[in-house]
Amino acid sequence: MISPSLLSANFANLEKEMAWFNQSSADWLHIDIMDGVFVPNISFGFPVLEHVARICNKPLDVHLMIVQPEKFINEVKALGAYIMNVHYEACPHLHRVIGQIHEAGMKAGVTLNPATPVSVLEDIAADLDLVLLMSVNPGFGGQKFIPHTLQKVVALRQLLERTGSKALIEVDGGVNLETGRQLKAAGADVLVAGSHIFSAPDPAAACKALSEL
Ligand code: DX5
Ligand code: ZN
Repeated sequence: MISPSLLSANFANLEKEMAWFNQSSADWLHIDIMDGVFVPNISFGFPVLEHVARICNKPLDVHLMIVQPEKFINEVKALGAYIMNVHYEACPHLHRVIGQIHEAGMKAGVTLNPATPVSVLEDIAADLDLVLLMSVNPGFGGQKFIPHTLQKVVALRQLLERTGSKALIEVDGGVNLETGRQLKAAGADVLVAGSHIFSAPDPAAACKALSEL
């Protein structure tokens, strides 16, 4: 599946972006929320996203790069989000937060930074709907893919099988046709792509090419 990242969209013309997006082969819309604390950048907040959610007809894949993401479960739910991803590194009480996301009626995902090993998920994997592996250091679009992520995808697949988890494996950062093909071969289920899709002369065609890998 493909989850194009809104971070690389033209924010001055979101209606136009959503027009091609809604007709495209994309499966989800990836939404990167940043707070300038957990990551060294600020993206957009709920007032903007309420408008986007209204004109987007695909499931919202929300990636919170913020401290204390549990404070915003109700806001993410109010957007109509399909899945809420919180960072492992931002949640000392991860098991509680995953339970709260499920209670709110959303799918729950945990995101790992590049330096965080997949082994930290051993005791929570069975409770997760998705694991999002960062293949760049979060905070910015357009960065270079970290090749070690491929080994993490393989190790994560083994961990999910061992723990009886049905979680999907999603990868975020530096995805293009080449790295996308490698990730698919390694066992990734969902690819996030920002600049590769939104900077393309024909974003819908770029999205379709990734879908067909
Ligand atoms: C980075 C974000 C990504 C970003 C990916 O912190 O989490 O979702 O939009 O952008 P590209 O695909 O350009 O690396
Ligand atoms: Zn993201």
